[in-house]
Amino acid sequence: MKILVVGSGGREYGLVWAARQSKLVSEVLAVPGNAGMAELARCIPVLPDDIEGLVKLASQERPDLVLIGPELPLSLGLTDRLAREGIPVFGPTAEAARLESSKAFAKEFMDRHGIPTAKYRVCETQEAAEASLDVFDLPIVIKANGLAGGKGVTVAETHEQAVKALAAAMQEQVFGEAGKCVVIEECLQGEEASVQAFTDGRIVVPMVSAQDHKRINEGDQGPNTGGMGAYAPAPVMTPELMERVKREILEPTIAGMAAEGRPYKGILYAGLMITAEGPKVIEFNCRFGDPETQVVLPLLGSDLIDTALACIQERLGAEHVDRKPGAAVCVVMAAPGYPGSYPKGLPISGMESAHAVPDIMIWHAGTVRKEGQLVTDGGRVLNVIAVAPDIATAVKKVYAAAEKISFAGAHYRRDIAYRALKRNKK
Ligand code: AMP
Ligand code: GLY
Repeated sequence: MKILVVGSGGREYGLVWAARQSKLVSEVLAVPGNAGMAELARCIPVLPDDIEGLVKLASQERPDLVLIGPELPLSLGLTDRLAREGIPVFGPTAEAARLESSKAFAKEFMDRHGIPTAKYRVCETQEAAEASLDVFDLPIVIKANGLAGGKGVTVAETHEQAVKALAAAMQEQVFGEAGKCVVIEECLQGEEASVQAFTDGRIVVPMVSAQDHKRINEGDQGPNTGGMGAYAPAPVMTPELMERVKREILEPTIAGMAAEGRPYKGILYAGLMITAEGPKVIEFNCRFGDPETQVVLPLLGSDLIDTALACIQERLGAEHVDRKPGAAVCVVMAAPGYPGSYPKGLPISGMESAHAVPDIMIWHAGTVRKEGQLVTDGGRVLNVIAVAPDIATAVKKVYAAAEKISFAGAHYRRDIAYRALKRNKK
């Protein structure tokens, strides 16, 4: 089979890597890909938001399966368009992807179907939004309704911060259209974890749980990023809790989407807060998480392509999602300045010595090759991943490898998985 992967980050590297592991696959294409993916796939320079370009390419190449990494092409209807061309796609339609592309839609959907989540108000005007600030205690959460590249959420500790966040979204429109409508929420207390599940629109089968680190600095301080690291499994997610997540969140979501005439197929990502009252949804994503994919795919015991086909063909069963034993940890190496502006083209060295550390994989994100030299080409540059029998061992290995890699101003967090390590020490 010929597989086409859409995207160019660490998550998409993982999709290419998993496709290459599959016995069903003879050829992998990636658009646009990166320097690492170019060693595993034929890379073609089309951007993920160029829907016309992607449809044209897919019509020429006729892949047997398209795997879509990022949310933007899903929300723009790439799945719908490719399906119309008769090309099999793993990923929800634009209507189904509204679970991620409109937070207001997701909250109202959860309300209709009794799915546990934070109390909220949807506000279309700044006046209504400011009036709603008094409905909830501080801290209070302000969210841009639309896609904002992971930057649209403010957890405001004070009334002033909340007013500022509203003005930024609704008046200054720093998120463009995405912030014209906001969702205001009560702040949930507890530990976060995420569960990503395969679904064929009827059955939903979760993979191992994970936890990511969104903030740039150690101790989860500083501005939010696309994700600075992740680990799996998340110790907070006991088998009992996983059962509850399935029964109270994943299954009613898939059943509700089908009942409303927008069947959801693909990966459903539930970002959860494990509160004193049980698991509640913080957000849904309509695709694999980044960097959660970097720790979840290495622990997937099944053939990703076989499972994706079972989803598309509506014949998913529990037997399609196997789990390997052990744990995985991913550390993201970022360019200096990230998540603000950062230089590109910094030469990267030490890859071979890092690869020599046992049980290590390095999944490229923002890299490119210039005259034979590997150089940086994005904010998040490399994902260093270790798989080991337990999280503590994986942490040791991942840092032994990361410290061998260098580029000018390389930045990475030294405390990835600290919550899991602290919990295990108790
Ligand atoms: P999101 O972009 O929706 O994943 O939100 C980013 C981060 O904001 C989440 O990972 C949480 O840490 C935090 N957050 C979002 N909504 C809430 C909430 N209702 N209560 C507490 N924290 C939240
Ligand atoms: N790591 C969260 C996300 O992929 O949106």
